[in-house]
Order: sequence, then C-alpha cells, then structure tokens
Amino acid sequence: MRLLVTGGAGFIGSNFVHQVIRSTDHQVAVIDKLTYAGNPESLADLPSDRFQLVEGDICDTAVIDSLVSQSDAVVHFAAESHNDNSIAEPSPFVHTNLVGTFRVLEAVRRHGKRLHHISTDEVYGDLELDDPAKFTPDTPYNPSSPYSASKAGSDLLVRAWVRTYGVRATISNCSNNYGPRQHVEKFIPRQITNLLDGRRPRLYGAGANVRDWIHVDDHNAAVLAVLERGRTGETYLIGADGELSNRQVVELILAEMGHPAGDYDLVKDRPGHDLRYAIDAGKLRDELGWRPVYRDFRDGLRATIDWYRNNEAWWRPAKAAVEAKYQANQQ
Ligand code: NAD
Ligand code: TYD
Repeated sequence: MRLLVTGGAGFIGSNFVHQVIRSTDHQVAVIDKLTYAGNPESLADLPSDRFQLVEGDICDTAVIDSLVSQSDAVVHFAAESHNDNSIAEPSPFVHTNLVGTFRVLEAVRRHGKRLHHISTDEVYGDLELDDPAKFTPDTPYNPSSPYSASKAGSDLLVRAWVRTYGVRATISNCSNNYGPRQHVEKFIPRQITNLLDGRRPRLYGAGANVRDWIHVDDHNAAVLAVLERGRTGETYLIGADGELSNRQVVELILAEMGHPAGDYDLVKDRPGHDLRYAIDAGKLRDELGWRPVYRDFRDGLRATIDWYRNNEAWWRPAKAAVEAKYQANQQ
C-alpha cells in the first residue's frame, strides 16, 4: 500500500512513519509544512526506496490533490497541536485544522481514497476530578479551547463527508501521548529538558489536573489497526488507562532524574484549563483486538527521559525560544 501521511515530521506522525517502515511493507510519502513543530531530523535515516518527504501545506489544493492521487490511503496527522499557542493566537488553528482538513477531504473525495483522521479526546471537553465516568464514542462534543474546538470541527467535517459523499473515512480520538521526538513546548518534554538544564519543572495551577497518558507507539499501533480493519464511518477512542495528575507526573520525572519530590514551581494556570480527560477504549479493544504494550507508565517515562538525555541536538534549538515565550506569560 502507498500511504500518504500528513504532518509526518511532527511528534506522533514521525513515530508513526518509523513504525510503518519497521512493521509493514507499505510505501510512505509525508507532506509536512515544516512549521516550528515539524522537524525533518525526526525522519532521518529512513530507506529512500520506501520513504519520501515533501515540504508542503495541506491547505494548498494543487499539492495535496497531486499527492492524494498517487496514494492508496491517507493518514491525516497534520494540525496545529498546542493548546497554549491556540489561546495566544488561534488563527493558524482555524486555518490548518479546519481549512486543511477540508482540503484533504476534498482530495480524497475526488480520487476515491481511504482516509484515517487523527483526533483528540479534547473534543469531548473535560470530566470532573471525582467523576468515575470516562469518554466514550457517545459522549457529546463540548470543546473548551480554540485548539480543541478546531479539532472538533475537523471531526465533524469528516463525518459529514462520510455521510454525504460516501468518503471511506475513519476517525480516532486519542488521549495525551508521550514518547520520543515530542516538542519541548509540551508538558513532559518541557519538564525533562528543564531538569537537564538545571531549571525546576513548572506546574500550572495546583497541578491537580488529570491527563490519561498513552505511549506514542501504542497510539500508532491502534491507528494502524483502525486503518487496516476499522469500519468506515466509525470513531474509535484510543487510550491505555493511564490517568495521572500533572503533579504525579512531575514527581515521577523528579524521582527518575534523581531530584527531591518537592522540587517544582507552581505557575499561572492556563485559562479554561480542562480538569480531567479519561478514555474508555473498550470498542477498540473488543472490535480490533488492540492492547497497549506500555502498561507501566514508569517504564515508558524512563525510556523517554533517556531519549531526551541522548538527543540534545534534536531538542536544543527549540528550547530557549519556548522558555522565553512561557516566561513572558508567567508560566
Ligand atoms: P505536532 O505539532 O508535533 O506535529 C504537527 C505536524 O503537522 C508538524 O510536523 C507540522 O509541521 C505539521 N503541520 C502543521 N500545519 C501544517 C500544514 N498546514 N500543512 C502540512 N503540515 C502541517 O503534533 P502531534 O502532537 O504530533 O499531533 C499530531 C496529531 O495528533 C494532531 O492532529 C493532534 O491533534 C493529534 N493528537 C495529538 C495528541 C498529543 O498528545 N500530542 C493526542 C491526541 C491527538
Ligand atoms: P500539554 O502537554 O500542553 O497537553 P494538553 O493541553 O493537550 O493536555 O499539557 C498537559 C497538562 O500539563 C495540561 O494539564 C497542562 C499542564 N502543563 C503544566 O502543568 N505545565 C507545563 O509547563 C505545561 C506545558 C503543561
């Protein structure tokens, strides 16, 4: 199969490309705008007879049309992905996540190609900290931030193109990912690289917000399962029962890196900060037989810390600018 991967130079997309090259015999073309979040280094050393990187914008009709016409299926990761950025400047989120997804949908419609759309559990809004409930595919959409609203809108466009035009698309909504090659603006890499730089981790608010962590390789294995065996028009929730408060995560990072448990700072909270996310992945497990490989968060976290220790050249160029931006915002 010839796969077109949008946003393949980003965190999850690049790990997906590596997994596809490792575990299948598919051909892979990546289209990526190489924004601040895209790093071609994440795709270095892939075999040139099976892999190609095209620098381009998914909003560019001619480029996306031509690449879609040459592929059998499209896996659509490309997005503006960081909540804090969306609060500071929502415009690129509306453009890439909504207009970009629209352009991808029109191209797969024109050429009759299979699409898998990557989305987030944040489209469902948030849950109370003491609520036993988790998100299911029937939870109503209730996004809180410009980022999650733009992702919710992109999901609804995909659903409409399935129903109205018969586009062969599936959607997956995954919880928070961690692992190698994640941008240092995100929570876990920010704290690891702060400690490597002799700075203290920064927790928003009281650090009580809960996220449901999944290793990026487990997410991508689920994406491959949906791509290969998922039913057209269906939505699959992806999560690995990894709920932890932000404070618990920071304490684990501090312990793994040999620092005292209280060695962090509480900083200004994020406006509209979602309290808790939690995924019920029963449909994915029951229908497609998917199971996470990383069952112990500490093992995956240790490997992730090692990756940042061993790959400073990858993250160093972005670090100072990210911290300057956070500092200007008292975060
Ligand atoms: P990322 O920011 O690391 O990567 C996004 C990639 O898209 C970058 O390489 C960027 O250059 C590219 N891109 C941005 N705008 C583009 C455009 N107009 N045209 C072409 N390429 C463009 O993001 P990520 O964390 O890898 O997330 C990938 C996808 O997974 C997103 O759709 C996101 O909503 C979704 N998701 C992320 C998480 C998470 O925890 N990070 C969880 C669930 C779902
Ligand atoms: P983030 O990685 O931005 O993902 P998301 O907003 O998609 O959940 O943040 C994860 C959690 O960590 C979220 O509750 C915000 C919090 N956070 C901090 O406490 N400190 C930080 O420095 C950052 C970047 C995030």
